[in-house]
Amino acid sequence: MKSSEIRQSFLDFFESKGSRVLPSSSLVPDDPTLLLTAAGMVQFKPIFLGETKVSFSRATTVQKCLRTTDIENVGKTARHLTFFEMLGNFSFGDYFKKEAIEWAWEYVTEHLRLPLDKLCVTIYEDDDEAFEIWRDVVDLSEDKIFRMGEDNFWSAGPTGPCGPSSEIMYDLGADFGCGEAGCTVGCDCDRFLELWNLVFMQYNRDENGNLHPLPKKNIDTGAGLERIARIMQGVKNNFETDVLKPIIDTVAKITRVTYGASPEKDVSLKVIADHSRAVAFLISDGVLPSNEGRGYVLRRLLRRAVLHARLLGVEQPFINQVIDSVVETMRDAYPEIVDSKPFIQRIAGHEQTRFMETLRQGLNILDQAIAQAKAEERESLTGDFVFRLYDTFGFPLELTIEIAEDRGLSVDEESFRNLMEEQRVRARASWAGERELKHAEVYEEVREEFGKTDFLGYEVDEAEAKVKAIIKKTVVVTEAVDGDDVEVILDRTPFYAEKGGQVGDKGVIETESGHVRITDMQEPLEGVYAHIGKVVSGRITIDEPVKATVDIARRQSIKRNHTATHLLQWALRRVLGDHVKQAGSLVEPDRFRFDLTHFAGITKDELRRVEELVNSKIFSNQPVRTFVTSYEFARETGATALFDQKYGEFVRLVEIGNFSKELCGGTHVSNTGEIGLFKITSEGSVGANTRRIEGVTNGAALTYLYKEEDALLKAAGLLKTDPSQLTERIEGLLQTIKQQSQEIESSKKKLAKDVIGDLLSEAKQVDGTKVVVQKVDGADMDSLRSYADLIRDKVGSAILLLASTADNKVMLIAAATPDMVKAGFNAGNLLKKVAPIVGGGGGGRPGLAQAGGKEPGAIDKALEEGWKEIREMLGVKA
Ligand code: ALA
Repeated sequence: MKSSEIRQSFLDFFESKGSRVLPSSSLVPDDPTLLLTAAGMVQFKPIFLGETKVSFSRATTVQKCLRTTDIENVGKTARHLTFFEMLGNFSFGDYFKKEAIEWAWEYVTEHLRLPLDKLCVTIYEDDDEAFEIWRDVVDLSEDKIFRMGEDNFWSAGPTGPCGPSSEIMYDLGADFGCGEAGCTVGCDCDRFLELWNLVFMQYNRDENGNLHPLPKKNIDTGAGLERIARIMQGVKNNFETDVLKPIIDTVAKITRVTYGASPEKDVSLKVIADHSRAVAFLISDGVLPSNEGRGYVLRRLLRRAVLHARLLGVEQPFINQVIDSVVETMRDAYPEIVDSKPFIQRIAGHEQTRFMETLRQGLNILDQAIAQAKAEERESLTGDFVFRLYDTFGFPLELTIEIAEDRGLSVDEESFRNLMEEQRVRARASWAGERELKHAEVYEEVREEFGKTDFLGYEVDEAEAKVKAIIKKTVVVTEAVDGDDVEVILDRTPFYAEKGGQVGDKGVIETESGHVRITDMQEPLEGVYAHIGKVVSGRITIDEPVKATVDIARRQSIKRNHTATHLLQWALRRVLGDHVKQAGSLVEPDRFRFDLTHFAGITKDELRRVEELVNSKIFSNQPVRTFVTSYEFARETGATALFDQKYGEFVRLVEIGNFSKELCGGTHVSNTGEIGLFKITSEGSVGANTRRIEGVTNGAALTYLYKEEDALLKAAGLLKTDPSQLTERIEGLLQTIKQQSQEIESSKKKLAKDVIGDLLSEAKQVDGTKVVVQKVDGADMDSLRSYADLIRDKVGSAILLLASTADNKVMLIAAATPDMVKAGFNAGNLLKKVAPIVGGGGGGRPGLAQAGGKEPGAIDKALEEGWKEIREMLGVKA
């Protein structure tokens, strides 16, 4: 059976059992507690938790998954991969253990026709119910049912839905085993292959590790496509199946290594093939290399691929050839990677070249460390050094060990592993810390007690409603009075709660006796709309009728900005390319912000083209329609899905003209003409491969342009011209300034020559050496130095001592030509003697020294003393 046939037969089988066939979701999950999509159930998590409702209760998928927990095992075992495909069937409070087990068995034995004598199962240690189903319903003999511990309790992360599980195992035979005496089901070796994991998802684990029953009992299963393919295709490992073998072949060709000839080299071939596949799919789902989170996973995979290529002697870029092969092999099942191939290759290629450069540096450092260790007669490299090499340059331990061993050194692996563990603990802590504690208990209580609020804000901006609950500082109260800060929950509301980057509405809630000013609106728990504000007069009581009114002008500005961001996204994709994905946004009344994935700065010309495109759509009055449709329909029509879109059966689609379609829950204008005007105000970087654009619309855009115009008018006014002539005027001025500077320079030179002429004409001659000891009025230190330089250049043999005053301060400089210095003259020593006379100090080198002082009156005396000193230094009797 080909992989494509396995995928289809699995989906067909579960469709025949009443399941809805759904597409794979992105590798980037919409869940702050999860780094990457590691299982088929990820997209259904909100359904399991009871946060989202859908009309169907059975589903089946083939899901792209990525796991890095076993990254070090990839290539070394027959079964581990980072990127893989998971076949899954799911029940949302519908069928449970019995059907899940029976159907899985039916599929495995009747459709895949796996031989019964190779199959056995595991269950969670105290799951007697599962035991009985396997024994009595499936008719499996008891010795084929193994009770296991924690391995058979599955959860997607430290918190969230979880439950006991039962696995179907396949015995590959003793040839694949470790041969140890106790080798049986559960052994770490390659003999007993876990084919399918059936999770009886019935608990939700909280932050403290406590289990709470879920609203309903669910089923979540996962079977590895590559593992099934391996058995069906009768090959030795995952890498020889039709989803990986062509990629292995490509890598073998590039590296000129024969697959199967050397176990060590095979590991590298497999790592490169596996990691390249993961890299391609990650980039295709919008992940870009960075130093944290998902971006780091991508970076690490790519680096490991490069390192292993290097182990095989490849020092030239190769990754894009492998990606060609990944795309060819996977294109039918995942057509999206065909479209994003140019982008994938650009990002991967660039990251690869950068890392190759880093690697070169890293190898140098390793070389030095080895040399140093040898010089110090040590026998090993320290764990600390090896860890730093790993952490900074991504050097895997094996590579360092290999290079070190070649040179007769070992590596302190234990301390390396300790440092790794410390880092892992740190990394885990920071992920947990990122979780916001949104689901404060009080909101849970409110929702339990009063149900959800109806949101009316797409149609109206004011509404009659009833007060359901009032929260004061996390406590539910029955009334609040003048001066109280409150959160008000109504049965229905026109207020939009902050979501998808759009800020919450402001406005007012009027009660019979009072006013509550609403300053923010949040939805802390799905369906719970908290109007956050202050009672400014009178009181508000539960159950009383109120009128809720949104600040309409503000809402209108928000709508304009929100629709503008959709136009912006459309235009950016046209100008920069289809790889542009939204990476975040903020829509406020006065401005908007839009973050996007892009690998370079956006040029002025590109920004201008984006602005022009957006404005052309505004000026041509395009209708904006919003409608609710099925998720599948939206996908099929090519809507741009935000990755923070929660999975639900129905989604809201915002369509502008016939060119932009986005899944979006925000509020929008009904015609682009309402936006009036669009202007980008800034563009910059906000991290690796992420750009941020800020902009304004309508009145705010006009105000922005006025400000720019005012600045221009002011500048033109100062230069006594008008803005249209400003550039010319500035160019003219710059020209004049340049000319004048040149003139000043040449006058200075001329002046210096004159001064020097004067100084030299007064010079004294001592044994063929010209000695200049003089006061130069009005010269600053720079001029004094240039006089000294000029004289030294001009006269073969000279000594000078010059003085000048400015602002009641004295400046002294002493200098000598090289022959005089050679003969023992020292300008520094001269000034040490002379400077104190003018009340100062200073010094310098024998050829040039300078000093300051504060007694101009003593200059003559100082020069006189200096002259005496020079004569003495020259050995002439005073
Ligand atoms: N979610 C389960 C797993 O990943 C099926 O093993």
